[in-house]
This record gives sequence, structure tokens and C-alpha cells, in this order.
Amino acid sequence: MNYPLWDVPFIGGGWVIGMIAIFHVVISQFAVGGGLYLAMAEQKALREGRRDWLEVVKLHSRFFLILTAVFGTVSGVGIWFAIGLANPEATSTLIHNFVFGWAIEWVFFLVELATVAVYYYTWGRISDKLHLQVGWLYAGVSFFTLVIINGILSFKLTPGHAWLAVAGTGQEASRFWQAFFNPGYWPSFFLRIGICCSLAGLWAMVTCSRISDKTPQLKAEFIQWTAKWLLPLFIAMPLLFFWYLHQVPEAQRLLLKLGVSTVAPGLFTMVTRMVVVILVSSVTVVGVVYFSALRAPQDFKLPQAIVVVVLALCMVGSMEYVREMLRKPYIVVGHMYSNGVRVSAVDKFNKEGYLAHALWVRAGVAANMARGEAMYRGQCMPCHTLDGYRPTRQLLAGRDRAGIGNFLEVLRAHKPDSPYFAFMPQLVGTDEEIKDLGDYLATLKP
Ligand code: HEC
Repeated sequence: MNYPLWDVPFIGGGWVIGMIAIFHVVISQFAVGGGLYLAMAEQKALREGRRDWLEVVKLHSRFFLILTAVFGTVSGVGIWFAIGLANPEATSTLIHNFVFGWAIEWVFFLVELATVAVYYYTWGRISDKLHLQVGWLYAGVSFFTLVIINGILSFKLTPGHAWLAVAGTGQEASRFWQAFFNPGYWPSFFLRIGICCSLAGLWAMVTCSRISDKTPQLKAEFIQWTAKWLLPLFIAMPLLFFWYLHQVPEAQRLLLKLGVSTVAPGLFTMVTRMVVVILVSSVTVVGVVYFSALRAPQDFKLPQAIVVVVLALCMVGSMEYVREMLRKPYIVVGHMYSNGVRVSAVDKFNKEGYLAHALWVRAGVAANMARGEAMYRGQCMPCHTLDGYRPTRQLLAGRDRAGIGNFLEVLRAHKPDSPYFAFMPQLVGTDEEIKDLGDYLATLKP
């Protein structure tokens, strides 16, 4: 236990990350796909000499600039604050393994931000040709931000044998490329490209729906062009999604089917439900885009556009949720559990004690209750809260001290046939520490 725990009452640190991350992902993926959309729309307008089209593209680029440069960047920084607080051990691992990946990513961010500002503020001030080049530059740079972040994100689910073989030896950096282009890289990459381009088209529908009814021809053309951009993606996306699920390691994929129903709705049946949400919302979006936007573009108004965007948010949110869930009980599959315990450190913790190196736990922590609570905070609270999300108090209800002791022994043995094996990490610590944890948990009577 190298770091103290960031205690967020009721929702827990995980959901703080989750909420910021979903918000961020929706905007940043829009930024990647939107760059391509803007450049293609501008190119078409210039080629066909359509000044009225350019006005729409300009309008859209303002919306784009505000959304990505303000909300995208602020939420991106927010993620760093949140993960650094909620999961310092994993954050440190990601930083150490991918130092140069991150460095390159930030260079791209900087160029991306500068370019999008130049793009918006130079409408009509530089030659058409140069302006279009700025647009393509932006599209290229933002595409590369995805190329890089995708390596780091997909690594967590499928770090790959090459990297796992050296994990914990200090030689991890020698497998940078294997970790970066891990087994899940390409399915994840193409799926995200699909999401990026879909989001670009869906957000563009908002701008399209606001084109004045005084120019019905222009509005219809723009909406139809955007609908045509979207439809091929909708055919590709389900295929890409199943390819993605297919590469998920067998043990992790099983989590989709597992129905754990302790309190309220079972958690992993929840994952299955999320997959259903993804499918239903995609089909609805396809329906609205096809029947409303493509067939009756003049009647396409802001409410329809908003419905489409909200459905897309549900879709992306559910996908990210599924991706997070599939990793249980790990943060880096096969290497580090969600509570920051490295698989390779289990024996050491069992021998020397989990709290032995926790400097901030009061010297000696004579009181066994204080030790028990520190164990709980370090090993359980990264996934549970006391009374809110996955409430420990409620989940333990019905177990007396002996029942809790047995439960902890099951967690400690972590046998593959344990009912908790698939979603809770191995419990580590000396006999004494486990006893203290049990004593502490026994005080959490509902
Ligand atoms: C990787 C995240 C994670 C960690 C760490 C974790 N749990 Fe869990 N735990 C879960 C999930 C997921 C469930 C299923 C919850 C549900 O069904 O709503 C669960 C369920 C439980 C249950 C109910 C099980 C049952 O059979 O009724 C208890 C009790 C529990 N956890 C206690 C603990 C304790 C104590 C610790 C620390 C030693 C801990 N958990 C650590 C994720 C975790």
C-alpha cells in the first residue's frame, strides 16, 4: 500500500473518474472525427464554388472550437486530477511505461489546439487554399492524438504476453512497442475511429438543423450530405463492436454473462444491459437519421438533432462502462488489481504485511481497529463505499463475525472456482491484518 486513499463519500473515486471521463471521451472523440468532417465539407464547398456552404462550415467550426477547446481540454486535465487521486498506483504505472507516449501526445494536443484556433479565426482572412490546408492539418494532428491514446487505453485490457513477461522487473520500458501495439490495439482503434466519425456526423446534425428555413435547399443538401456520411458508419459499427468484444480475453468476456445479484440490480447483468442499450440506441439513431434526415431533411429540426446526440451520448457512455467493467478485478489485466495491488507483490504483502510500508498509517497503529480500517480503505474502498455505491455495510449484512472471517478467507485464497474470483481481487496481508480487517468489518452493522 503505497498511497493513502482518496475517500469520496457515497459515489467513490471510481465514479468521479467515470463521469469526467465519459464527458471527456464524447468531446474528444468528436474532436477527432470533427476535424475530418470540417475539412471534407470545406473541400467540397470550395470545389463546387458554394459560398453558402462555407458559411455553414464556418458556423459549425465555431461550435466545434468552443466545445473541443474549452470543454475538451478542461475535462482532459480533470481526468488527470481524478485518476491521480483515485488510483495513484495505476496512474504511476501508466506514466512510467509510456513516458514518451505521453510526451508525444501532449505535443499533438498543443498543435491541435493552436491549429483549431487558427482555423476558426482565419476564415476569410487568408486564402481559401491555405485555410483548407489548416483544416487538413488539424484533421491529421487530431487523428494522431487518437493513434497514441488508443495504445495506452487498450493496453490496460490487453497488455499482452510480451509486456507481462517483464512486468515488475524494472525492464518494462524495453517492451514499449509491444505494450503500445498490444493485442487489442487494432480492434479498439477501428472501433474508436468509427465512434469519432459518428460523433462528428451527429454533432454536425445540430448545426444542420439550425440552418435557416429561408434556405431550404441548402439545409436539405447539408443534412443529406451529413446523413450519407453517417450511414456507412452505422453499418460498420456493429461489426467493429463485435470484433472488439471478440478480442477481449476469454476470462474477461465471461464477466458479460455473469449475473451477480447481491444488492439491487445484479452488477454484471448490468453490463449485459449496457450492451443492449448500445444496440437499441444505435438502431434508433439509424432510424432517425434514415427516415428523418435523409428522407425528409426539410422537417429535420433541433429537437430531432438533440435526440440523436443524447442517444449517442448514452451509446458512448455505455461503451466506456462496458470497457471498464470488462477489466474487473484488474486495472491492468493480469498485472495490477483495481485496488493498486500488483499480482507480483501478493506474496510480499502476505509475508511482510500490507500496511508494513504504509508510512502515513499512524506509527505502530497499535489499535487493531485502526489497522482494520486501513486495510479496508486500501483494499476494498477502491471499488466499494460504506453506504453508497456498492455499499459494504449492506453487502455484508447477514454475516456475523465468523461469516465475515470465512468470506475473507475465500477472498484470500482467491481460487478460480470462488464465486468472487472473476470480479474481486485477492485479499492480501498477514494473518493478523486479515483478523483486524474482519474485526473492523464486523463493526459495520447496518
Ligand atoms: C475490483 C473491485 C473490488 C474490490 C477491490 C473489492 N470488491 Fe467486493 N465486490 C466487487 C463487486 C463488483 C461485487 C459485486 C457487487 C454486486 O453484486 O452489486 C462485490 C461484492 C462484494 C460483497 C458481496 C458478496 C456476497 O456474496 O454477498 C462483499 C461482502 C464485498 N464485495 C466485500 C469486499 C471486501 C471486504 C473487500 C476488500 C477486502 C472487497 N469487497 C474488495 C468488487 C470489488
